[in-house]
Amino acid sequence: MSIRILIVCLGNICRSPTAEAVLAGRIAARGLSQSIEVDSAGTAAYHVGNPPDPRSQAAAANRRYDLSSLRARQLNVQDFENFDYILAADNQNLTDILALQQQAISEGVENRAIVNLFLEPLNETITQVPDPYYGGDNGFEEVLDLCEKASDLWLDKLT
Ligand code: 4NP
Repeated sequence: MSIRILIVCLGNICRSPTAEAVLAGRIAARGLSQSIEVDSAGTAAYHVGNPPDPRSQAAAANRRYDLSSLRARQLNVQDFENFDYILAADNQNLTDILALQQQAISEGVENRAIVNLFLEPLNETITQVPDPYYGGDNGFEEVLDLCEKASDLWLDKLT
């Protein structure tokens, strides 16, 4: 049975789709596609159905990650049953995920998800992926750098 990982940010158009593509790339490079699955979602519904932000797509494409087929969806109570790990981009996402986890439990959904920060394995002063949405292009590069580091460390941890 495969390990299922869900990465969550606010809109599911910048940070979490980037993290999904980077982690999926690292999984494929290690030959683990049969044993680890990855998806992403947003805590908010603003961008449901939309492709990733063009700035995220462009920055990712420069590093050969293809985000074009991804579409935003909102985190829902069923995700706590369907995923082994739900990983938050920042502290507000983490708070919102934990609140929805309580709702899932109160609704009788089986909870098997371990909820954590995506950057937890970095074990450094930076624990959150900064939101690049209202910033400059460098923010998108920083998101990619952090996603690459965290993805490698999660796979070291899980394999
Ligand atoms: P994300 O970035 O959470 O990394 O996808 C954002 C996307 C949209 C908004 C904020 C952050 N927004 O306010 O619409």
